[in-house]
Amino acid sequence: MKTMELHLTVNGKSLTWTIAPGELLLDLLRRQGYFGVKRGCEKGECGACAVLLDGKPINSCLMFAAQAEGREILTIEGVAVDGKLDPLQEAFLDHGAVQCGFCTSGMVISAKALLLRCPDPSEEEVREALAGHLCRCTGYLKPVEAVLAAASRKKHRARRVKPVAEVAR
Ligand code: FES
Ligand code: FES
Repeated sequence: MKTMELHLTVNGKSLTWTIAPGELLLDLLRRQGYFGVKRGCEKGECGACAVLLDGKPINSCLMFAAQAEGREILTIEGVAVDGKLDPLQEAFLDHGAVQCGFCTSGMVISAKALLLRCPDPSEEEVREALAGHLCRCTGYLKPVEAVLAAASRKKHRARRVKPVAEVAR
């Protein structure tokens, strides 16, 4: 079988993997043990396979692994840092936004991208960010509440920590 080398960064780690030219990014990530990237519809309709590619959410079932050459990927496995859950993950748990959990990693990934580019989103912006994710369990309201709560927690934290210049005044 013809193979090629792929160089990429996953969750902050530089990696070189041997892949088949036609292999999908979803298949590659799962083959490498990133099982938080879920295999759902495989048609770009459910969002369960979402990862961040250079900070933007994409459906990994719609992309060839080879297209990730030199790119940076964030999967749900890289969202918690040093064993500490991201505020988004905490908010999903606190708001009952995780039930069977199948859609959760994809939703958290898309929400993460939203809060990175827009730390204080409106409800409409959150709904738009989660629009590509199908959930059979939660009715969508709880995930939306969770993202808004995470954004508001971050805002309060940022307010508590005064900028150095302000403290020195
Ligand atoms: S598995 Fe990729 S969008 Fe459904
Ligand atoms: S929590 Fe079950 S599909 Fe969303």
